[in-house]
Amino acid sequence: MKKRVFSGIQPTGNIHIGNYLGAIKQWVASQTEYDNIFCIVDLHAITVAQDPQQLRAGIRKLAGLLFAAGINLNQSALFVQSHIAAHSELAWILNCVTPMGWLERMTQFKEKAGQDRERASVGLFDYPALMAADILLYDTHLVPVGDDQKQHLELTRDVAQRFNRQYGDTFVVPKPIIPKIAARVMGLDDPAKKMSKSEAGKFHAVYLLDEPGVILKKVKRAATDSLRDIRFDESRPGVFNLLSIYQAFTGESQAAIEAKFAGKGYGDLKKELAEVIIEGLRPIQERYAQFAADPAQLDALLAQSAAKIRPLAADVLQRVQTRLGLG
Ligand code: TYM
Repeated sequence: MKKRVFSGIQPTGNIHIGNYLGAIKQWVASQTEYDNIFCIVDLHAITVAQDPQQLRAGIRKLAGLLFAAGINLNQSALFVQSHIAAHSELAWILNCVTPMGWLERMTQFKEKAGQDRERASVGLFDYPALMAADILLYDTHLVPVGDDQKQHLELTRDVAQRFNRQYGDTFVVPKPIIPKIAARVMGLDDPAKKMSKSEAGKFHAVYLLDEPGVILKKVKRAATDSLRDIRFDESRPGVFNLLSIYQAFTGESQAAIEAKFAGKGYGDLKKELAEVIIEGLRPIQERYAQFAADPAQLDALLAQSAAKIRPLAADVLQRVQTRLGLG
């Protein structure tokens, strides 16, 4: 029996190379090894206000990108979270076994709510319980994510274990898979900040659909330092970030990369890196154009995939309801 993999991604903002290297690339690479379920998490997106038309367009665009990146429905499911009602139903149940204190410790909530906590939605606070529901609903063993989701995964494990203790063995307790390279891609304009969809800076992130000229411009503008040698040195976050992106796209070893750039300058590194990103994204961009040309087909693929896995979710939800004495 193959292990079950579940992971999700929000259909908001522009998908960037952080999302690609931290998550999507691993999803595609391990498709044959696991039994995979990937989810476009629109219910998570609405924890902050969204423009309805943009959200709808964002879901299709993300679906197109994921298929273009290589998600294959013969090996994986790819569906929209709100199409399977059991996600919301299980989230409510998990709300009732998750202590407020656990959610209060979540750093992502603190960052996203910022100073104005009183105005943040209850949904934003409760975001990790919905994420736990996503994962636990499919008896998931493994969750491939970037480093920023680690704390949410720990909470998911804690919630599963607590439920199992209180009501008897019900949930599989999942484990994260975090890539060794590029688990936390940093902003090109500011290597102290994680590359993020919501950052407004023009030179912050490389998006999957950026044209070659734009990619070159962004990489050329990337922050480095006043030293010269090109080495993987975490105390020099700008250069380290560029080298890590290079490594993640090429699969070359650190030693080979350092040897390649020995005696060269940052200008050379940036030119070569831009080239590697452009070539890495080119096939995705070409395939994306085909998917984007037929939105009705995209909708049909997402609907078919949801229909296929809905019974899995229903089974687990039923198991949980029985344990609790519901209905
Ligand atoms: P989201 O949409 O913010 O990001 C999707 C995936 O991309 C990874 N990622 C990064 N990896 C490396 N460097 C970065 N700068 C970077 N930015 C983002 C994220 O770690 C993630 O793997 N809460 C999740 C979505 C979610 C989910 C789930 C994930 C909902 N339910 C169940 C796993 C399982 C999120 O907002 O991801």
